Amino acid sequence: MSARTIDGKAAAEAVRAAVAAEVARLSSAHGLVPGLAVVLVGDDPASAVYVRGKGKATIAAGMRSFEHRLPAETTQDALLALIARLNADPAVHGILVQLPVPKHIDPLAVILAIDPAKDVDGLHPMNSGRLASGLPALVPCTPLGCLHLAKSLHGSLAGLDAVVVGRSNLVGKPVAQLLLAENATVTIAHSRTRDLRAVCRRADLLVAAVGKPGMIRGDWIKPGATVIDVGINRVPTADGKGRLVGDVAFDEAVAVAGAITPVPGGVGPTTIAFLLVNTVRAACAAAG
Ligand code: GUN
Repeated sequence: MSARTIDGKAAAEAVRAAVAAEVARLSSAHGLVPGLAVVLVGDDPASAVYVRGKGKATIAAGMRSFEHRLPAETTQDALLALIARLNADPAVHGILVQLPVPKHIDPLAVILAIDPAKDVDGLHPMNSGRLASGLPALVPCTPLGCLHLAKSLHGSLAGLDAVVVGRSNLVGKPVAQLLLAENATVTIAHSRTRDLRAVCRRADLLVAAVGKPGMIRGDWIKPGATVIDVGINRVPTADGKGRLVGDVAFDEAVAVAGAITPVPGGVGPTTIAFLLVNTVRAACAAAG
């Protein structure tokens, strides 16, 4: 038996079309054009690709995109001063500083400087705390994408055994909170978890967010389970170009799982789609 491959690209296109329709309505009925500022410090090639993709998607949805590319030597003070200007700019409803930032900049200082109402990454403790407390919040985009894919497949997630492998603030912890809010029984596993294979094998819904290529093997998966692979890892190839793979050994997993997200083309495209959703939410909240 072979698992159903979940088409994240199609799911993301549907979300982006809905966002574009909502943006058109907001701008014609209320003169409100949502604006997203994306800040990139340094010249990491992968980050530059992501930032370009975010800008293009923002414009394609009919929103305003403000891109700020700063040199790697930019001081923390200069970055914080830019964030203060973006916080004060009424045309900017969402602010995203692409991570990682260069080593001389403290990422927490950056996150804390962003107005929580414009924090479309959902990383400010005001937003993560509100999410954990069950209050309305801006929620990180990749977890929203994971949840969207899982719900499109299952409808209700109530009572499912969900295992999240990874405990980052960007993915593991928020995805666990979202699954808990959907009444799944949630386990957060990580590098110190004892017998990770056995823990994973209990999962009806397995979310892999560890950043280790192919770490989750076929025999770690319960037959028929849904597997959401958040990993995007570039591994070397003979032609020197490299290839993107997930945290799950796809060829093994596809023979065991009931449904699985591919890499690329699974969770990745939904992340940008939900960045647009968050920007529209922030713009509507700002307009009252
Ligand atoms: N780097 C990789 N993923 C992300 C993300 O979702 N947000 C930000 N700000 N940086 C990232």
